[in-house]
Amino acid sequence: MKIELKNKKIKDIDAQLELIFVVNKDLDHTFIADKKDLKKLNFKGAQDSTCLMAQSDRLYIGVDSLESFNLRSAAAKAIKAIKSTSYSTLKVASYIDQDESSIQAMIEGFVLGKYSFEKYKSDKSKNRVETITLSTQCFNNQKVDITKANAAIVTAKAIATSTNFTRDIVNTTPDDCYPEVMAEIAQALAKKHGLGCTVLKPNEIKEQKMEALLAVARASRHKPRVIHLTHKPKKPKAVVSIIGKGLTYDSGGLSLKPSDFMVTMKADKSGGSAVLGIMRAVAKLDLPIEVHGFVGAVENMIGGDAYKPDDVLVAKNGKTIEVRNTDAEGRLVLADVLCYAQQEVKSDYIFDLATLTGACVVGVGEYTSGVMSNHAKPTNLLLKASQDVSGELATKLDFNKYLKGTLKSNIADICNISNTRYGGAITAGLFLSEFIDEDHKDKWAHIDIAGPAFVEHEWGENPVGASGAGVRLVVAALQSLVK
Ligand code: BES
Ligand code: ZN
Ligand code: ZN
Repeated sequence: MKIELKNKKIKDIDAQLELIFVVNKDLDHTFIADKKDLKKLNFKGAQDSTCLMAQSDRLYIGVDSLESFNLRSAAAKAIKAIKSTSYSTLKVASYIDQDESSIQAMIEGFVLGKYSFEKYKSDKSKNRVETITLSTQCFNNQKVDITKANAAIVTAKAIATSTNFTRDIVNTTPDDCYPEVMAEIAQALAKKHGLGCTVLKPNEIKEQKMEALLAVARASRHKPRVIHLTHKPKKPKAVVSIIGKGLTYDSGGLSLKPSDFMVTMKADKSGGSAVLGIMRAVAKLDLPIEVHGFVGAVENMIGGDAYKPDDVLVAKNGKTIEVRNTDAEGRLVLADVLCYAQQEVKSDYIFDLATLTGACVVGVGEYTSGVMSNHAKPTNLLLKASQDVSGELATKLDFNKYLKGTLKSNIADICNISNTRYGGAITAGLFLSEFIDEDHKDKWAHIDIAGPAFVEHEWGENPVGASGAGVRLVVAALQSLVK
């Protein structure tokens, strides 16, 4: 989809359809030429509601305010509203309140809203929108800075197409996307965007003593991979490592999931897929930060060779783990990959992204990620980047010493599950914390994306299925480091 800025009045731009945002239900605004008809149709301009006027070739979309969060979602709804029409060229005015960030949000909304996953459909629906022309004419007559507006478009496209890239990987079935395929995707990405890429195969993973990861992987016919992507600009302003849980399928292992819970577990690779999307965006934006992306790509299956409840595993850092539930596998994979990432890179920030616990979804709802850490700094960086800036919802979950005590094991250093059924998102985070070195303790934050990564209905600018959760959040956090 082509998106261009034209220094022309909206009426002087050629396009088949004009998009008009109805801001704060103000139907008296001069832009609203069809006021009478809109009233007849009882269109009030509620947030995300749309009204297509085919006679006048105008589409109206309600938006409560010009805050990015609202504009992004409304823009996505606009694109969805004309999905099955034949309109292919659109024009829209600028909607700026304070700065050009609202342009970024609107363009993100268009690109994210146009996404649909149809790889396995025989009849592909066609969203025909090919070009969106943005006019520099602003709805409140504010002057638009052309350089800043063009930069906002470039940024929006990089972030939104990278989110869509992640969505595609997550939506792909476990039979088509297994660890080896994830590694191939990473290698192709590196080649295309000038990133460094190393892939560890089972022998190398063994050499690195990542025995917890290997145990989880053992029963699958698909062998594991550990992926390391690098973006290394000259004179970086910071060094950041991002680690993703890439469970290409989570059957639960011998602690087998009930059938209803197993469906959607292709999305257990969402953290790793987000890391790939983040690296794509970082490369496209050429951020002046050294960024390392690590993915533990593994399939958790059953079989005669499966790892078992009662096993004791030795993680890369030498800690012993009593396995009491093979469905708490993500933390075992992450434990080793976190150790590996810290061995390879000294970072200013370490973030991990994982669909780690159902408890996080129960606790904060399916639209929000849970952020946990031992220190306010990395958490605050992420929380500041959420909501308005990135469009993603995230909330803090606090660690405490009592929950930490629930991970004690009688026979090993730590258990892979806690002895209480409460606070499962936090105890999983506390488990990971055991694999963070002393000198990285205040630099690390864990992001549980189990809720928003995959939702089986549309919400905001997100489609049914994979949302690409984590990509926009972490990219916004990285951008804030260099602003
Ligand atoms: N991948 C799941 C977590 C999950 C659940 C993600 C629902 C998305 C939606 C994870 O590996 C898991 O199974 N966790 C267990 C942990 C338990 C055994 C302590 C869970 O959440 O039930
Ligand atoms: Zn599991
Ligand atoms: Zn899992």
